[in-house]
Amino acid sequence: MDWGTRLFRSMLLGLAGNRLAESLSNRYGMKLGAGRFVAGETLEEALEKIKALNAKGIAVTVDHLGESVRDPAEADNYRNEYLRLVDAIAREGVTGNVSLKPTQMGLSLDRGACLGRIRAIAEAASRHGMFVRLDMENSPYTAATIDLVRALRREGLPNVGTVIQAYLYRSGKDVVELTAEGVNLRLVKGAYKEPPRIAFPNRRDVDANFRQLIGTRLDSGVYTAVATHDADIIDWTKWYAKRKRIPRDRFEFQMLYGIRTPLQEELAREGYTVRSYVPYGRMWYPYFVRRLAERPANVGFIVRNLLAR
Ligand code: FDA
Repeated sequence: MDWGTRLFRSMLLGLAGNRLAESLSNRYGMKLGAGRFVAGETLEEALEKIKALNAKGIAVTVDHLGESVRDPAEADNYRNEYLRLVDAIAREGVTGNVSLKPTQMGLSLDRGACLGRIRAIAEAASRHGMFVRLDMENSPYTAATIDLVRALRREGLPNVGTVIQAYLYRSGKDVVELTAEGVNLRLVKGAYKEPPRIAFPNRRDVDANFRQLIGTRLDSGVYTAVATHDADIIDWTKWYAKRKRIPRDRFEFQMLYGIRTPLQEELAREGYTVRSYVPYGRMWYPYFVRRLAERPANVGFIVRNLLAR
């Protein structure tokens, strides 16, 4: 990545936490182009898109957008929305599960209350044999998120797992420990702005670590989601699994809704489990900005959408 792209990416990620930019973007609503990455503002809108994916043999993990809540009532509302979501997935016979963000459940306000909210969701999901993934946010929450997963599993909720980011130096150790505990993990490159003190600044190192983590997990046989749009990493994973005779029911590929859809469909046709991460809800702004930062060329269609108004 050249320095210009790196600077642009860093500026965009800075905007993800900017309240003024958020309120400006809300004025333009989804017209800004977020509809390419977000399945709608309501559960009902999202369910339509989800059913279309299922019909193509693609499973889903559904995210009700929201993060970094500022008061407990807001976190309670998110918990209730997730309970509604879990019910809807079960009722509608959707092939899918849910992904949530710990700070959306109040992790930065009160850890105990946050645990209680996620427990309620995990218990409801467990009654339907459904899995709950705790997304991984930025580094102040890494250890706390892993702790939440461990606490819930100790309480008898093995249907809870989390995400490990290949850009963090600590991830090799986390993967070894969580694998020994049998935790279902999603492996990703990492989407936040992190300092070189704790994260590989160079893409090539992130990719090398990503492959290393995928290899460790596939060798272990503990169920793993390889979440990436990087065709080289996907091809490498297919090659590695074949060489090591890893059964296809031990791993899945995950991609984000609206990104590389033809590749998602192709992998599903080849017989791999593919899961699309489907976000919906009104709080789409920080999620949208992270998607732009991953591929600065995406900013081009914001401009086109604004010009088309
Ligand atoms: P990379 O960025 O190298 O992209 C490879 C290619 O994919 C690009 O060249 C481009 O063609 C395409 N591509 C990638 N991003 C695109 C975009 N936004 N728009 C259009 N094309 C794009 N992160 C995190 O920190 N915590 C988490 O919990 C999660 N959860 C998660 C779930 C799922 C299902 C996915 C797929 C990803 C995440 N991530 C995440 C995000 C992840 O960390 C990472 O930022 C993105 O997946 C982008 O990295 P890639 O691995 O796709 O590779």
